[in-house]
Amino acid sequence: MREDTVLFGGSANPALAEAVARELGVPLSPCEVERFPDGELTVRLGRSVRRCEVFVIQPTAPPVNDHLVELLAFADACRRSAAARVVAVVPYFGYARGDKREGRRVPVTASLVAALMETAGISQVLTVDIHSAQMEGFFRIPMDTLSAVPLLCGALQGMLPEGTTVVSPDAGRVKTASEFAERLGLPLTVLSKHRESGTRTRVTHIVGDVRGRPCLIVDDMISTGGTIAESAEALRGAGASGPFIVAATHGLLMGDACRRMAVHGVEEIVLTDSVPVRSADGMRLRTVTLAPLLAEGIRRAAGDAGSQHERDP
Ligand code: R5P
Repeated sequence: MREDTVLFGGSANPALAEAVARELGVPLSPCEVERFPDGELTVRLGRSVRRCEVFVIQPTAPPVNDHLVELLAFADACRRSAAARVVAVVPYFGYARGDKREGRRVPVTASLVAALMETAGISQVLTVDIHSAQMEGFFRIPMDTLSAVPLLCGALQGMLPEGTTVVSPDAGRVKTASEFAERLGLPLTVLSKHRESGTRTRVTHIVGDVRGRPCLIVDDMISTGGTIAESAEALRGAGASGPFIVAATHGLLMGDACRRMAVHGVEEIVLTDSVPVRSADGMRLRTVTLAPLLAEGIRRAAGDAGSQHERDP
């Protein structure tokens, strides 16, 4: 890595930040995040960043607002301390689902977050499997989205029962699910989902034959577990035999998400460590680390001559 590269890890996922730093062979620089009794926060950089290329590793994981403001505060501190560039490494990008106006008199929060990041002084964003690709259009700065699908497929190799079909739980995930299906050499089934509220969804159609088949349901993120639970129920109703296995990049697993999925027959879940991984009550949990992928993304963003990308023709 170049000598002017500085890495900071925010408080959202310190274990992942440490792992990325180890992969890069660059230590995390000291910093402090102080939270005040009224809910405000500030950060203090423990070294000079003048003319440096700074990477701040901070998924905007729950509590999303706190971690987002912390990232913005890091960027502002770097900008005011004359950093040459500030790259936000955001393995999980909160608010990405707010990418359109659902009805009238509502905001487009994803666009708002992009504007806040630019205003704070972020020069580039590096993320993984963001909810919707159109997010890139909200930024005027470069945004790179890395894919965890090859890593997840690597973890799934050899653990899927004979006859498994890959399932996209909604139309928005068809492209990702197709990639899983192609990589794993499996057929694809697509569900059509109607969202009734923040916690309830309903499957309206199933495209594909799932009778007697085990299912691998794939998604970008699991929040309440509602999408997966409803999908498993609909698949069972259409004759799928189970077991139901789930693979997702971002395992937020809020509240009783795990119990909800387990009750609907999900036996095993494969996640990345984009957000701190908790145990998955009632299911077997396997995690794959994003550290090597993020480290390579950082090398490329830093224009490091030793990266695989730079060596490729
Ligand atoms: C929605 O389109 C996303 O891709 C996920 O399916 C959804 O956000 C998961 O949320 P939950 O677990 O609350 O259903």
